[in-house]
This record gives sequence, structure tokens and C-alpha cells, in this order.
Amino acid sequence: MRTILQNPSQIIMVDSNGKNRKRGNEMNELHILLEHSIIIEDGYIKDYIPANKKPKNIDETIDLRNKVVLPGIVECHTHTAFTGSRADEFRRKLNGESYESIAKSGGGINSTVESVRKATFEELVENIQPKINYFISQGVTTLEIKSGYGLSFYDEIKLLQVINHLNLKNKIDIIPTFLGAHTYPNEYRKDKKKYNEIIINEMLPYIAKNKLALFCDAFCESTAFDAATVNQIFEQARSLGLHIKLHTEQFNNIGGLKTALDNRAVSVDHLEVISENDIESLAVSNTVSVVLPGVSYFLNYDFAPARKLIESGATLALATDYNPGSSNIANISMIMSLAAIKMNMTIEEILSAYTINAAAALNLSSITGSLELNKKADLSVYECSEYPEIVYNAGKNINCITMKNGEIIYKNY
Ligand code: NIG
Ligand code: FE
Repeated sequence: MRTILQNPSQIIMVDSNGKNRKRGNEMNELHILLEHSIIIEDGYIKDYIPANKKPKNIDETIDLRNKVVLPGIVECHTHTAFTGSRADEFRRKLNGESYESIAKSGGGINSTVESVRKATFEELVENIQPKINYFISQGVTTLEIKSGYGLSFYDEIKLLQVINHLNLKNKIDIIPTFLGAHTYPNEYRKDKKKYNEIIINEMLPYIAKNKLALFCDAFCESTAFDAATVNQIFEQARSLGLHIKLHTEQFNNIGGLKTALDNRAVSVDHLEVISENDIESLAVSNTVSVVLPGVSYFLNYDFAPARKLIESGATLALATDYNPGSSNIANISMIMSLAAIKMNMTIEEILSAYTINAAAALNLSSITGSLELNKKADLSVYECSEYPEIVYNAGKNINCITMKNGEIIYKNY
């Protein structure tokens, strides 16, 4: 099957010169191709040809005049596998209670756990699918989804099975991450050691044996897991073949970053309170820094130091952290706008952060995240003639085509 994407106004390749990531200043180099068409063969990017050429043996022609082509958006950090609403806690927060104090009183993550535990496999699938559709409509071709709202052997496995089922049911790639160490479930608040043992000796071996997750994540925070426990969990996860991610330096600096780097984490996520020294060691490492401006906005506290990280040479990615408590935001345009205005990132840095670097945060940047030859034909197409419009249109979805493996899976124009 050969498809030609004819004459878009700009092709934003996000070329990484074969490095499959962009560090620091490289994030400003997007590599823009004008007056060219893209040839796709059997789901892969085969060639770029001058727009005035009419090649032979083409099965499908797609006219992209006055449109901008970008690599498919990679959404590398979400908690999309949830049910229920925490609007009431949101109301309490607006009336002065803090996110941490709501969590300490048994609410927060644990209120979503209650709702997820009550839901059947089918109810979860039915509830989560529309959330995935919304991401697809915004150009997302790869979506990471964490467990973390089950917090018992049965319910964590149920959630991971739901995520894996949704991966099979959808044309985009859905990457499952195990987050059993999200917080202590209410029934183990007084016996944390027992819950740690369940994660290490029961959940992880079952998940690895049944290939239910690619990554093991944890929340290293004073209201959640300490660094020593996270280290034990990660050692077990790595010995079983899982890759590592960590929620760390969100509110307090309790040694999470060092633990993540010691365990060769693929990404560290949040980083709102990362120290100056840690910025340096993170920036020179191969671990991707994932920053989540939606959380700082939604909880109204400091943004992660994206500029300092980039200027120190870090590989920086952006994501929504879509979840019902700290970032009830699945709108990628809004995240891009926050990154521009509140984190002072350039438009080019933002687009690199949401494509090639987000793919690197999922270990997938050798096959997706840029429009380099022989990568998957995963792309998002925008209703505009110049790429700055994508970030300038704050909160507005101007994606009009989502293409996965060379197939149009969403169209709106
Ligand atoms: O990434 N930091 C911990 N976990 C989520 C919040 C989840 C929730 O409140 O339900 C986060 O911000
Ligand atoms: Fe998160």
C-alpha cells in the first residue's frame, strides 16, 4: 500500500539526526520541509519528493494543502484509567484545603481507588474509551496509561488488563505502566510494610509473567512512598525486566531523583521542586525529564524549572498527567499554552517536547516521534499553514487528521 500526502504547507520533521532525542538547545531545531509531499509505504515513511512530482504506483492520495504535518503526538504520562469524579474535592480545594491534606484525610487518590474497585472490567472499558477518543482527536498516536487506582492485587491486575485490552481494541499504541506504588491504600495506612511486600512479592511477579506492563512507576513523596522503598520496588521490577519511571520532586525533595537515576529510569516526572544540583546531574544523564504544567496550574503552585533544565542540556518532554485529582486536564493545546506562557518554553521546544522527547520517555523514539525516513507513519495534521498556530491557538484543537501506521484514524475537516 502506497499513500501520498500531497503538498502540505509545512512538514515539521523534528529530525533528531538519528539520535532519537533532543537535548537542550537542539529542541529548537525542528527541520521544516516546504513544497514536498510524503510517500508512505505499508505504514512507514518511505520518501519525501518535490511537491510538483507525480509518482506512479500510488494507491491513495491525500491532499494536505494549507495544512501542517507534525509527528503524531506522544502523550507520555497519564492516569486515564480512572472512573468517577473528584469535583467535590476540587470545591474543597477552592475553599482553602490543600491537595496534601485532602490526601491525608483518606481522600485524594484513595477516593478514586474506591470508585475503580467498584467498577467491573466492562464498566472500566466503557468509561475509559471516550477518554482515549478525546486524545486521538487531538493527534495522539501513542498514549501511556498508568494503573495506580486499584491498589490491591486484584484491582491493579484488573486495571492493567483493562489497559492492555484497550491497547488491542484501539489503533493507537497504548503503553501500560504499573503504578501500584501510587499511594498506600486506606486499609494498609497502618501497615505499610505489608503493602510493600504485596507489590514486590505478588503484584510485580504476576505482572512480569503475564506481560501486563512495560514500565514500573512509583510516587516518591512524603504522603506516598519513601526513597528506600521505591528502591526496593525498582530493584525487583528491573530484575523482572520492567523499565523504570518515577513521580518525583513534586512537593518535597526526599531522595527520589537519586533513586531514579541509580535505577536507570527512562524518565523522571514532575520535578517542580528539583534542586539546582539535581538539575545538573539529571541534565547529563539519559533519563528524560517529563514536566507537567497542568498540575501546577490545577493545584496552583510553582511550575517545574523547564528553562533551567533545557539550558543545562536535559532531554525534556511535556505531558498532561491527566488524572481526576491534580490535573483534570486532557487538553494538549492547553498544556502547550501553559508551557509557553508559564514555563517560557519556545514553540519549537514545545513541539520537540511533545513528539520526539515524549517518545524517548517511553523508549519508543527509534520508531516514532519524528518524521525521519523508515519511522512509523504516525502523524498529526493541523488546520493551519504555519506551525506556530498550533501553540498560539490556546485551548483550541486544530488537529484535523490523526494518522497511525499510515492509516487515517481520525478526520475532522
Ligand atoms: O501525577 N502525583 C501523584 N499522582 C497523580 C495524582 C493522582 C490523583 O490525585 O489522583 C499525579 O499528580
Ligand atoms: Fe502522574
